[in-house]
Amino acid sequence: MTQADFVVVANRLPVDRTPDGEGWRRSPGGLVTALEPVMRSAEGAWVGWAGQADVTVEPFDFDGTHLVPVTLSASDVQLYYEGFSNDTIWPLYHDVIAEPTYKRAWWDAYVKVNQRFAQAAADVTADSGIVWVQDYQLQLVPKMLREMRPDLTIGYFHHIPFPAYGLYAQLPWRKQVLEGLLGADVIGFQRVADAGNFARAVRRQLRYETKASGILVPDAEGGTRVALAKAFPISIDAESYIELAQKPEIQQRAKEIREGLGNPRKILLGVDRLDYTKGIRHRLKAWGELLEDGRASVEDATLVQVASPSRERVEAYVQLRDEIEMTVGRINGDYDTTTHTAIRYLHQSYPREEMVALFLAADVMLVTALRDGMNLVAKEYVASRIDNRGVLVLSEFAGAADEMGSALLINPHDIDGLKDQIMRAIDMPAAEQGRRMRALRKRVRDHDVEDWSQDFLEALSVFHEKSSRAAAEQITRDDDGSTPEREPIDETDAG
Ligand code: G6P
Repeated sequence: MTQADFVVVANRLPVDRTPDGEGWRRSPGGLVTALEPVMRSAEGAWVGWAGQADVTVEPFDFDGTHLVPVTLSASDVQLYYEGFSNDTIWPLYHDVIAEPTYKRAWWDAYVKVNQRFAQAAADVTADSGIVWVQDYQLQLVPKMLREMRPDLTIGYFHHIPFPAYGLYAQLPWRKQVLEGLLGADVIGFQRVADAGNFARAVRRQLRYETKASGILVPDAEGGTRVALAKAFPISIDAESYIELAQKPEIQQRAKEIREGLGNPRKILLGVDRLDYTKGIRHRLKAWGELLEDGRASVEDATLVQVASPSRERVEAYVQLRDEIEMTVGRINGDYDTTTHTAIRYLHQSYPREEMVALFLAADVMLVTALRDGMNLVAKEYVASRIDNRGVLVLSEFAGAADEMGSALLINPHDIDGLKDQIMRAIDMPAAEQGRRMRALRKRVRDHDVEDWSQDFLEALSVFHEKSSRAAAEQITRDDDGSTPEREPIDETDAG
């Protein structure tokens, strides 16, 4: 059996079926691009689901990576993926924007499927290898894997927010999930606040001590080991966006897009998975009101909203689509003319080339998420703006806001404030656009996705090279020398 020294475990494999259903092609996602060079040089393996229920695929090699498909039955998809992952954890971790559903049968399936992923990783990882687990669908894998293979060094990265303790405390399986994550040596989060929320939940629920970013975890031998819980903000492959934006055919395509919309003075753009966390409704409300107030007109400005289909069998997503499509229909019905439209709504996914053309055509990019782990679209937009023009309107509830202070930061719940900032973006003088865009682009270029994976893997390598005790000593030395934190014992206070 093939074994690898470096293994990624994620809910999805980094490949999709080609349209003819015969072969495979690389999936477009950022994580896949980020890890491609690491996977190739390490001759790594990737454990994940191929995206179809009840289909068993034998392990195979693709582009220098050994792929190990995990089979999910139709019932696993329903209970583990659509249920516990996307109807319990997803809404709970995004500040309960939609109400989470707690079902014991979903939890049981989540445990069972996590066990299957952990077993597949345990089987494919070589002696003393490194395993990097990705995201909220697999929070129990680190502990399961450590129990099966104590020789491994285990990392986990959490791509979505980790909620404040008062919300997290709702989860009936809150202790088990924390213990699951603490099986990792390094637990990475998007924002400093997420790592802080996690550490607090650990102190309150498990009563473990934390010291700076280290968490003291009791080990199997009755001693303690240290797990590191820290922010490692993810990024994009900025150079690949820059290269595309430089291509004459993509610049030409951007012009065609403008013309196709009737050459409005300004184009506003939203690009999201169709998800209730993205604040699409708030954005449409603000835009509809600006048209109603007469502060904007359709000859003057058009909103292009790309909403890519997502999780279409989960009820909250079905409802959201209905609401959004009704709102778009109403606004367009009220304000469209025969030559211009208020909103060009596209319920589709596009290849990266078309996205870059859209970014180049858009004078204003609207990222109005109510809660978002990072939001890579914000980074893709600025990377693509090689002309240093365009304005990013960015929700302070997106992780990207921590790094992108030169955007126009907004609170999407404040519709009047949002409207004002949209107008400010539409009217922003070129010199100010340039100043802000340069600062934003510098940040994204200086901290791209390769830096992200390197930073994380470097932190993990400390655990790989040293014993857990020595790693603990180094972490405590490198950190700020703060005193250990303990939470007072008051089980009733979930604040
Ligand atoms: C978010 C999550 C990812 C997930 C992606 C698409 O970005 O953090 O883990 O893969 O959404 O969602 P899907 O349910 O289609 O995998």
